[in-house]
Amino acid sequence: MTTNNTLLELFQKQHGQYISGQRLSEELGVSRTAIWKQIHKLEAAGYRFEASSRLGYRLVSAPDELNAESVAGLLETSRFGRQVHFYDVVSSTQAVARELAESGSAEGALVIANQQQNGRGRMGRSWLSPPGKGIWMSMVLRPQVPIHFAPQLTLLTAAALCRSLRKATGLSIGIKWPNDLLIEGKKISGILLESAAEEERLKYVVAGVGISVNLEEGDYTEELLEKATSLRIAGGSELKRGALISAFLKEWEELYDLYNSKGFSPIISYWEELAVSLGKRVELVTPQGRLVGTPVGLHESGAIRVRLDDGSMQNVFSAEMGEPVRN
Ligand code: BTN
Repeated sequence: MTTNNTLLELFQKQHGQYISGQRLSEELGVSRTAIWKQIHKLEAAGYRFEASSRLGYRLVSAPDELNAESVAGLLETSRFGRQVHFYDVVSSTQAVARELAESGSAEGALVIANQQQNGRGRMGRSWLSPPGKGIWMSMVLRPQVPIHFAPQLTLLTAAALCRSLRKATGLSIGIKWPNDLLIEGKKISGILLESAAEEERLKYVVAGVGISVNLEEGDYTEELLEKATSLRIAGGSELKRGALISAFLKEWEELYDLYNSKGFSPIISYWEELAVSLGKRVELVTPQGRLVGTPVGLHESGAIRVRLDDGSMQNVFSAEMGEPVRN
């Protein structure tokens, strides 16, 4: 074991408390100058220490290092994420996960990248995925349901993500239909579900999730900053991506198991509890044209139920939802 590892272990066992330079040098059998050099090396690798002339050193934070091992060590699921494929750079995790799905990978196979060079969003948009600052991941699902149930899985994923991020950050995060996560009207996360079907049944689904975790204002263009934010900008502190991934996968697997045993009804309640787009009159641009109405809840099929101005109800499956509009 190198001095570096041992030194780190000593600090980790101390849980943020100070250790004197004298004790460090005695325990490791090296000079205090050697300890000081090792601390500098750890700082260069992203660890943060505080030094006190009276008390010694304490470890303040570890780097937010993401890899297959660090994720595996944090998992609390039985299937989701149990096969992790980690990449430093990919074009898009969606493409990698689709290949895994096509070659027969089991449900729960997960692709995570530190950076995407060609991150994709809904409606052919691109998705900003700078290195080390967010969670860019895609997972293979193999739901045993007909193809027209696919929208339900998008809503389920949004509910699980929103619940886990709220618990982990304490921030008031809401869902804008169908699956954008917002903080004070600005987007912090997006979900992209792509599926393949065989004889009217879903063969597999690739569920892509992008979470803007530690992006800073300088990472966005001025235009994007008007409608997007990150957990760090909104909450004021950096977050550990591994812990967020683990919390999300746990919540996601739980809701997915609930869906498989009890159907979509319980998921509707979870989703509606978190929705910010209900009860406000909005414009919806659908593939069939533009309509204005008030979304009031979810339909069993996964469509949103919209009350039109004439009082009639319409189920909308796919649309871009605009800002609230006046009567
Ligand atoms: C959206 O809101 O438009 C959906 C964004 C989905 C982004 C994620 S990041 C991981 C996965 N890989 C991609 O290229 N896109 C999804």
